[in-house]
Amino acid sequence: MQTKETVFFHIFRFHPDRDKKPYFQEYEIPFLRKDLTVLEGLFYIQHRLDDSLAFRSSCRAAICGSCAMHINGKYRLACNTPVLKLKTKKITIYPLSHMPIIKDLVVDMKSFWEKYEDMKPYLMPGKSFPAEGEQLQSPEERTKVDVLIDCVLCACCHSSCPITASHEKYLGPMAFLTADRFVSDTRDGAREERLAMVNDEHGVWRCHTVFNCQEVCPKDLDPSGSIAHLKMEIIKRKIQQKCF
Ligand code: SF4
Ligand code: FES
Repeated sequence: MQTKETVFFHIFRFHPDRDKKPYFQEYEIPFLRKDLTVLEGLFYIQHRLDDSLAFRSSCRAAICGSCAMHINGKYRLACNTPVLKLKTKKITIYPLSHMPIIKDLVVDMKSFWEKYEDMKPYLMPGKSFPAEGEQLQSPEERTKVDVLIDCVLCACCHSSCPITASHEKYLGPMAFLTADRFVSDTRDGAREERLAMVNDEHGVWRCHTVFNCQEVCPKDLDPSGSIAHLKMEIIKRKIQQKCF
């Protein structure tokens, strides 16, 4: 049921081909329902008030990761953020950080996807596994990757990480969580290759354990825990090399 209340969306706007600098535009929208989400508010603006507003979304169910943006002080999924939960009538929205603006809330995620690709995000055969045939896994082994496979590649962790901001080639929290997802998977045959990929100057040792990635992840994942796990696996191998 529609209420008489309204809410104000204060939105970052920037069209690099047209605007000299970014600015904010405010829209007043009706508080349509008690469970109105930020994404629904953006659609209301786009459909009823200003069709020039650009933002990304797809699934509207916190599955595709495409509606990530900075909403009232935190990176969140707009489709999974009820306006009521923000406890204010003023919603301030910025795009994701550390990536060039294409238009308004849409950023160019090329560098983010390149880091994902660098991690070779697929099971690879190795010396211990043939390239063909089934690789069986016990239920206990499967639980090791249970949470790690939930990443929706939203880039909230990437945008909140101060090291990603200051060091362009730093692989970043999403890439480390992806590496850990395969290092922890008993069906993968490229564990050593993956550990070598994250064990360089742009890798896990550059993390300053700020924990922003863990705090901000809309799927409650723990990229900082993955970073710690990868470091442990690398150290274990160094110790083994020295002892044997
Ligand atoms: Fe998004 Fe969490 Fe995956 Fe980072 S780890 S990309 S915050 S879902
Ligand atoms: Fe897919 Fe929000 S629209 S996660």
